[in-house]
Amino acid sequence: MNTIMRDITSGPTPLLENKRILLIVAGGIAAVKVPDLIRRLRERGASVRCILTKGGENFVTPLTLASLSGEKCYQDLFSLTDEAEMGHIRLSREADIILVAPATADIMAKMTAGLADDLATTALLATDKPVMIAPSMNVMMWTHPATQANLQILQTRDVRIVGPGAGDLACGEVGDGRMAEVPEIIAALARFFAKAQNRGPLSGFKALVTSGPTHEPIDPVRYIANRSSGKQGHAIATALNEMGAAVTLVSGPTQEPDPDGVEIIHVETAAQMLKACQSALPADIAVCAAAVADWSVEEAAQKIKKGSNAPALKLASNPDILATLSKPGKTRPALVIGFAAETENLIENAKLKRAKKNADWIVANDVSARTGTFGGDSNTVHLITAEGVENWPTLKKRAVAERLAERIAKFVERHL
Ligand code: CTP
Repeated sequence: MNTIMRDITSGPTPLLENKRILLIVAGGIAAVKVPDLIRRLRERGASVRCILTKGGENFVTPLTLASLSGEKCYQDLFSLTDEAEMGHIRLSREADIILVAPATADIMAKMTAGLADDLATTALLATDKPVMIAPSMNVMMWTHPATQANLQILQTRDVRIVGPGAGDLACGEVGDGRMAEVPEIIAALARFFAKAQNRGPLSGFKALVTSGPTHEPIDPVRYIANRSSGKQGHAIATALNEMGAAVTLVSGPTQEPDPDGVEIIHVETAAQMLKACQSALPADIAVCAAAVADWSVEEAAQKIKKGSNAPALKLASNPDILATLSKPGKTRPALVIGFAAETENLIENAKLKRAKKNADWIVANDVSARTGTFGGDSNTVHLITAEGVENWPTLKKRAVAERLAERIAKFVERHL
């Protein structure tokens, strides 16, 4: 499946630092996301040089792209000054990767056919560098046999594809065709560079991590929650990313900052968390560290007024995300890891949870108040696998995460 890299010693060097990205902006409404993309790429140390097509100009101005990228925005194939200073050949060769975002059906068709009728398509034809596209178009255009055939040809030429996702489209229709979100594009680029640099034993693998509590609304102003801080789940996402995995972190409300280089989806409720997890599949590895509320409340449309009697809350069971992800099937990650938060009979209950939820491993921890686990910086865990129970010493949550990521890397080396 994936090639396994054995460079466990590689440090957390930011994957996009000093990378030169030639960004081709074609004419789709998703071009409005490009300023944010440029800003975030530069925040990560990448340099961005833009080519704006005629179509792209309808959605974003060359001035915006130039000021955000800090470089001239190139538009014209036959500009004498540009050709003298920076021809299309140099433009396309002086990049580490060419990213086409948004990639319209038109530019995909031109790439497939090898047309070169403007600066963007000429640079794409003249390049010897890797190319990634983020398609964006109407669902009918995306599913049209012509576009799908073009996509297949581009894939056989090793063009990397990120997205598109499903959702509301600008044209008012719903379906596939929506350009990948900015963090997703950044994660795809990071994954590409990690792989290219043979960085980390998890390079080329995708991990899904849940973290934090969920909030279940009672009425528009109140909710039920738990004491989970998200520290352990966020640390696991970071550790997996530093070992080269492309990570999607689905997080409930926490005070933790978004980990760098990780695609993050913020959610509130268990139902939203499940949906976000399912949208992040397929993944090779899933780690469910979130303290998901077991129940949701039948939500009142208006704030419940304080009457003489306390109101009774009507609870309904929430979906079990770990058990859902673990169900045998095509999209089941190869390694599914759950947590067991217990206040008594830790190992026994954790073993039962492993079996009941069909998880491969369970990280069991005692969350009694006296342990300070919930909200604290340290954790004492026991790793429960089919082979038995490993008792780990008390470690900082960050160290627990690193040790778990190393165990995951070993699993990947042996089994994937
Ligand atoms: N979990 C989940 N979805 C839920 C509840 C739990 O994905 N609705 C996951 C947690 O992320 C964790 C594991 O299941 O990986 C065990 O969670 P825990 O809170 O320890 O157990 P519960 O299943 O909630 O059972 P109980 O509260 O009875 O101990």
